[in-house]
Amino acid sequence: MVELLSEKRMRELVRRYGSFYIYDREIIDQYTDQLQNDFAGIHFLYSLKANHNPDVAGFILSKGFGADAASLNEVRMGAANGLGQDEIYYSAPGKTDEDIRGAIRNAVLIADSLDEVERINRIAGEEGLSVPIGVRINPDFSFHGSGGRPSKFGIDTVQALNAVSAWEECANIRVTGIHVHLQSQELDAAILAEYYRRMFLLADCFQAALGRELDFINMGAGMGIQYSGRDTVLDTGRLGEAVREMLASFRVKFRKTKVLIETGRYAVGKAGFYVTHVLDKKTSYGKTFVILANTLNGFLRPSIARLVARYAGNDVPAGSEPLFTSLDAFEIASFRPEWEGTETVTLVGNLCTASDMIAEDIILPVLKQGDPLIISNAGSYGAVLSPMQFSSQRSPAELFLDETGRIYESGKLLEI
Ligand SMILES: Cc1ncc(COP(=O)(O)O)c(C=O)c1O
Repeated sequence: MVELLSEKRMRELVRRYGSFYIYDREIIDQYTDQLQNDFAGIHFLYSLKANHNPDVAGFILSKGFGADAASLNEVRMGAANGLGQDEIYYSAPGKTDEDIRGAIRNAVLIADSLDEVERINRIAGEEGLSVPIGVRINPDFSFHGSGGRPSKFGIDTVQALNAVSAWEECANIRVTGIHVHLQSQELDAAILAEYYRRMFLLADCFQAALGRELDFINMGAGMGIQYSGRDTVLDTGRLGEAVREMLASFRVKFRKTKVLIETGRYAVGKAGFYVTHVLDKKTSYGKTFVILANTLNGFLRPSIARLVARYAGNDVPAGSEPLFTSLDAFEIASFRPEWEGTETVTLVGNLCTASDMIAEDIILPVLKQGDPLIISNAGSYGAVLSPMQFSSQRSPAELFLDETGRIYESGKLLEI
């Protein structure tokens, strides 16, 4: 991990920025290539909510990914990156009339409720438009079996099927696709394959009800990455093969239907590193604390996992995506060699709360003030989730490293 940058450059960046995220383009390239190679015939959407850094998003969208937008701002990001209306899918609960009006010409709107279908129809009429829309469905199955559950997302399958004939009467919309997203961070290819199979069957049901072929089936996200040593690596080759076989048999019914899969973390999760540095050290009642810059407020996920474990009294709290995955979801590295000496330390941040702790009683090489500390698996749900305004600290920077070692900040080349 420390091979990412030389110690000299890392120290220079710490001197300039204090703490920062650095995203490695080569790793994003590898993960996105892998998806595009393993899943022939599938169109991928990049979930901008995972990391909307302009260099990161620009790179992924330039590779042929469409955009999964969860807000009007994310629709605008997709459009600013040159994506057409049929490449941006706007799916989120609670859209306002202004959101709908603002996105209606730039994205395929995915209605999240029965009421929203009507509102889109009304607003399209007011704008003098007739638009294709999708509907988000809350299906009667889950990743782990059958049976629907109450959800704030989407419209229950039965409600949606009952509404189809009323939707067909709406003059300004045409339902052309369905969207489902149930879960993230799944590592078992067989579970994902079974989920996709159910998705095709669900789409078939909607096609039958509509009496025409759907333009798209958006199967949402789900592919996970290896955070801890306990995690298996998702076998995308096997999963891609299973999807290809399904696609081949379902093509009889979905001759032109675009099949979409969303991903945020698979594209960027492993490509991001969070770099903080040692501000101070102290020993209290025999415990050694290393005080770091911007931990809870700069990179929330390690602290929140600890917090949940502490209050749940559970060493292995179940992940709660996208807030955290597990306690051991990160590697922490420094440039100090172990042969210089190690010690047991507790890593805390510089906020005025004891909850600002990322690791307790771990063995690390002896650190000194100013030393950079590099945390892995910070590419997705890192900067976007962290409460950076807390206690008015300086926010971490976000940097982008290319294959030649050049570093950019918001598209601008740094001299370093
Ligand atoms: C609707 C939807 N799509 C896609 C994603 C992206 O998930 P992931 O980053 O795990 O791929 C999420 C994550 O919360 C989501 O809610």
